[in-house]
Amino acid sequence: MTSGSDLHWHVRSFMARRRWSAARQRLADWLLSLRQLPAPPDELLLLGGSAGWMMSPEFLAGFKQVVLVDIDPWAARLFRLNHGGTLKRHGIVLEFVQGDAHALLGDILGEYPQACVLFDNFLGLDSIYTRSLDLTARRLRGLRGRMRGRLWGSVHDRLSGPGTADWAGAACWSQHWRWPSAQPLPQQDLFASVQAQGQWLDHHTEPVLPPGLQTHLIPWPIIPGRWHWLQAGWVDDRGGR
Ligand SMILES: C[S@@+](CC[C@H](N)C(=O)[O-])C[C@H]1O[C@@H](n2cnc3c(N)ncnc32)[C@H](O)[C@@H]1O
Repeated sequence: MTSGSDLHWHVRSFMARRRWSAARQRLADWLLSLRQLPAPPDELLLLGGSAGWMMSPEFLAGFKQVVLVDIDPWAARLFRLNHGGTLKRHGIVLEFVQGDAHALLGDILGEYPQACVLFDNFLGLDSIYTRSLDLTARRLRGLRGRMRGRLWGSVHDRLSGPGTADWAGAACWSQHWRWPSAQPLPQQDLFASVQAQGQWLDHHTEPVLPPGLQTHLIPWPIIPGRWHWLQAGWVDDRGGR
């Protein structure tokens, strides 16, 4: 596991704010659906939250305390730059823990027994860090057990690759994609809607969410000519302690 800051990611995210606006809105719709569940917690463990480039201020405003966990030492400073106004307006306390969320998970879950947990778009990168599909498969499969008794959610890469669709006018925006987790993705439709070309990557995140959960599929034009399909879902296991 590396522990350096990815300045390239921050610069690219800053430059991409307009191109990412529709994806950010889709993500916000999903994030805010948490509020439809009974008694959502007022503490959030935000894992891999980075500078919150894709974070919804409305979603953030629903919490009293946010614990940001990221390997990037710059994450909290840049998160405050992006969301300081929301944090201040709503009196939200932001704590930062620098490190590997997998290694820290047991301790922070113990420290915040009632908090909601959000895996914020980093699980799809796992095999890049582990360099082992087996290790990644084992730990992604194990997450559900570790989250027993929690209200938790994840947004993560499912597929990514080249696509020639124009980010503003792409067919993917013409529908709100909902899909039960663990069912084979409607790949041909997803690919057609972003005019996929060439080789696409499977991020091996299929086991993260429990089978049958209704999820959101979110297109994300990460850089010009390259698209990701994200999958996002909330799991309310608070009765399952
Ligand atoms: C794609 S970015 C997430 C973007 C973020 N959700 C946002 O809205 O800006 C992935 C982030 O996860 C962090 N990350 C990757 N693996 C991690 C791990 N094992 N533990 C903690 N942070 C991790 C990276 O440092 C990076 O900030």
